[in-house]
Amino acid sequence: MRQHISFYVGDTLHHLSDLPPELTLLDWLRDQQSRTGTKEGCNEGDCGACTVLVGRLEQGALVWRAVNACIHMVWMLDGAQLLTVEDLRGPDGQLHPVQQAMVDEHGSQCGFCTPGFVMSMVALSAQRVDLAELEGTLDGERIINEALAGNLCRCTGYAPIVRAMKKAAAYCARHGEPISARTPELTARLHALRDGKTVELRSPEGRVTLPASVDALASAYAQDPAAVLVAGGTDVGLWVTKRLRRLPHVIAVRAAQDLHQIQTRPDGALWIGAGVTYTEAMPHLVAHLPAAADTLRRIGSTQVRNAATVCGNIGNASPIGDGPPVFMAAGARLHLRCGPERRVVALEDFFLDYGKQDIRPGEFIEGVLVPPLAPRSVCGVYKVSKRFDQDISAVLGAFVLVMAEDGAIQQARLAYGGMAGIPCRATRAEAALLGQHRTQAALHAAQAAMKEDFTPLSDMRASAWYRATVAANLLARLFEAGSVTNPPGAPTLENWQEVAHG
Ligand SMILES: Cc1cc2nc3c(=O)[nH]c(=O)nc-3n(C[C@H](O)[C@H](O)[C@H](O)COP(=O)(O)OP(=O)(O)OC[C@H]3O[C@@H](n4cnc5c(N)ncnc54)[C@H](O)[C@@H]3O)c2cc1C
Ligand code: FES
Ligand code: FES
Repeated sequence: MRQHISFYVGDTLHHLSDLPPELTLLDWLRDQQSRTGTKEGCNEGDCGACTVLVGRLEQGALVWRAVNACIHMVWMLDGAQLLTVEDLRGPDGQLHPVQQAMVDEHGSQCGFCTPGFVMSMVALSAQRVDLAELEGTLDGERIINEALAGNLCRCTGYAPIVRAMKKAAAYCARHGEPISARTPELTARLHALRDGKTVELRSPEGRVTLPASVDALASAYAQDPAAVLVAGGTDVGLWVTKRLRRLPHVIAVRAAQDLHQIQTRPDGALWIGAGVTYTEAMPHLVAHLPAAADTLRRIGSTQVRNAATVCGNIGNASPIGDGPPVFMAAGARLHLRCGPERRVVALEDFFLDYGKQDIRPGEFIEGVLVPPLAPRSVCGVYKVSKRFDQDISAVLGAFVLVMAEDGAIQQARLAYGGMAGIPCRATRAEAALLGQHRTQAALHAAQAAMKEDFTPLSDMRASAWYRATVAANLLARLFEAGSVTNPPGAPTLENWQEVAHG
């Protein structure tokens, strides 16, 4: 057992033991370290002004992630390398290529958002050395837009900033990127910090437990079921910064290294451990559920997805969380653990009512298992929100129809977010589809049945009428444009549709 956390900020090693559980990285940097280059805009993960770079060892290799310091707790940094905007200048005072490009391209006006933009851009240039080769391609544009979607600027407009990103990428391709040039040294430094121990921090304000393994987590939580589990903290961080909630005892889910597993099992099912973030899960999820790719890329921003876990998205049980309907449509099962006891529940049975889940005191999610799609599945995942990026859904529809060889619908799983107090399935609409072919008549029957499935709410995101209309229309989109999975040798979409429509 260790009683302090250790991490680097720039080249300074910090050992901290007396840490309030709710102390955010942003407050610590600005109030205690005088690193005021990191700005506070919204204090809720939306604007990116507080973006910093966190380097960690993932499978032994150093990986940089941009995160929002305003909703990142200081204790999350155990074993990490932190870089803020103050760390970018070279020893001779030379600006980082990204900073220089921002100057050259006039990427800054009032300057308030600039350090945050710069950190997101440096994260991209340190990670994607191939970015310059993608210049002018759709992929290159998408990568840059995704990297910057979590940074808001009210004065410059984004064009000069994007130009600066491209210029910096071209420079780094020719001359190297200064942070990635330090990879061997920084990797060795982080390896030396690793001791595989559980950490217990105590301060007058409370306790933080960082369990080294899932067994240590299970035992700590069984001993104190009143403790708050925190994974990425992208929900819990807001309880602190917006609701001013105290957290007397926090247990850090992501400290348990054996919860970071993500793997495809021999039967094709995808296992996602409770410590896995959306960023880490993304390539696996896209391969496993291709129809969900566009929606998963729109969960929060790069900074949010770098911290947010897939299981935290389920654990918070929000009726408008994006992951739960997707996994529900795919038939996912939750693996729960309480002390030494384990049980498995279907995801739809986990959500009982608004704010109420099938989980006992001291019980937690160990991971989620997503089965493979059946052959001849027609899938669609559609997120509807007011803004394309970085916005919570008004309605999300996630659908899987499994077709018989004759083109009739054999199984239907229609899962929605935003239509009730919990993410749930449209069971009457599903029943109306069974045995039907994918025709207009079948669609209309299912849409009519869906009226009995839901009584949606009106709120600031959408009216009840809008939600009901959109939910029915998303099913129509599935009928028009759902993607089809085919095992090798099975009919293609085109000839299968011929089968379906006679
Ligand atoms: C700016 C911003 C944008 C966002 N955009 C989206 C969006 O587009 N779509 C969306 O769905 N969400 C969005 N979110 C919400 C949030 O990012 C997700 O819900 C995220 O996946 C939560 O994961 P986390 O690891 O950060 O959870 P945490 O904040 O650590 O925890 C969330 C809840 O789950 C519980 N919990 C965590 N791990 C476990 C576990 N293993 N077992 C049991 N309970 C557990 C915690 O106790 C807490 O109640 C956004 C958040 C922010 C700040
Ligand atoms: S201050 Fe706006 S994201 Fe942190
Ligand atoms: S330069 Fe003023 S907010 Fe971006």
